Amino acid sequence: MRSVAWDPQQQRLLLIDQRLLPAEFRRVALSTYQEVADAIRHMVVRGAPAIGAAAAFGMALAAQQATGSRAAMLDFLHQAAQTLKAARPTAVNLAWAVDRVLQVAQATPGGPDDLRAAVLAEAQRIADEDVAINKRMAEIGAALINDGDTIIHHCNTGALATVDWGTALGVIRMAHEQGKRIHVLVDETRPRLQGARLTAWELAQYGIPYDIITDNAAGFFLSRGEVQKVFVGADRVAANGDVANKIGTYMLALAAHDNGVPFYPVVPSSTFDLSIAHGGLIPIEMRDPDEVLALQLKGRPVAPAGASARNPAFDVTPHRLITAIVTERGLIEPPFDRNIPRVLGTA
Ligand code: MRU
Repeated sequence: MRSVAWDPQQQRLLLIDQRLLPAEFRRVALSTYQEVADAIRHMVVRGAPAIGAAAAFGMALAAQQATGSRAAMLDFLHQAAQTLKAARPTAVNLAWAVDRVLQVAQATPGGPDDLRAAVLAEAQRIADEDVAINKRMAEIGAALINDGDTIIHHCNTGALATVDWGTALGVIRMAHEQGKRIHVLVDETRPRLQGARLTAWELAQYGIPYDIITDNAAGFFLSRGEVQKVFVGADRVAANGDVANKIGTYMLALAAHDNGVPFYPVVPSSTFDLSIAHGGLIPIEMRDPDEVLALQLKGRPVAPAGASARNPAFDVTPHRLITAIVTERGLIEPPFDRNIPRVLGTA
């Protein structure tokens, strides 16, 4: 199941509308980069690697929309890049993918048609690489899972959050395919409920046993010795190993640490931002308070009329709470500031 796919016949981008799942599985077709930016902003597509790949194809659509000379096309691509990168601030894969495509466009000789072909080919490469990287991380991460483990997972990091296969959920899926009997406790992940809606839906497809838990029940299960490992994804990792991920990850990491349970972010190299020294410098997206306030129970709003809310979409887990980071280049253990550049090959 490719969550982000190019339709070569009609030259458009196909996305699964993640706002409708699990009630309805529907693909949407996008023909302009502005539509792609809107889809990212409104979370039709979500998850760091998936929004990176979608934005790369958004650049391919921008190249189709551009008219005139090569110089005019490059100007147009720069403008599209700004719009796409501004759609969501925290996941660094978005800017990483857009800049990678832009660099290819600038470096490609020839006229507008050459640039169009090069931009599309690069977007397709980013998408294909994402799947291969996820499978490699899954093999490395699955080696950490034992037969009989119960695992807590936060947010959604599966095929839906990537081009295919997934990061943390990809590790869990690989362990299951290797025949390990595992059980997943799925954090429901307020306020957008990516865990209850999307991760549970994916686990059901793969036949992996799970229970949905409220986010605030994680500490209960950890403290009772019922959990052997925690696996999460990431939206940006700073040079010192601090990890920005879906809101609630920090509290989960604290509870795991207090109970001596290993905590593993699963992170492709494209999610590292070594220009950022520590997690306090990572931009954190503040989303519409209505995402918190719109919750209804039995058809009635939960919050009183006129209530206010604050809604940070991500938090930062300090590196001291992290056991190791799974990447496609290998497992990164502390000290992270030394081992991240060594394992990623940027030292
Ligand atoms: O706001 P979202 O749903 O885009 O946030 C996604 C996450 O936090 C995921 O856990 C993340 O992108 C990690 S890896 C696929």
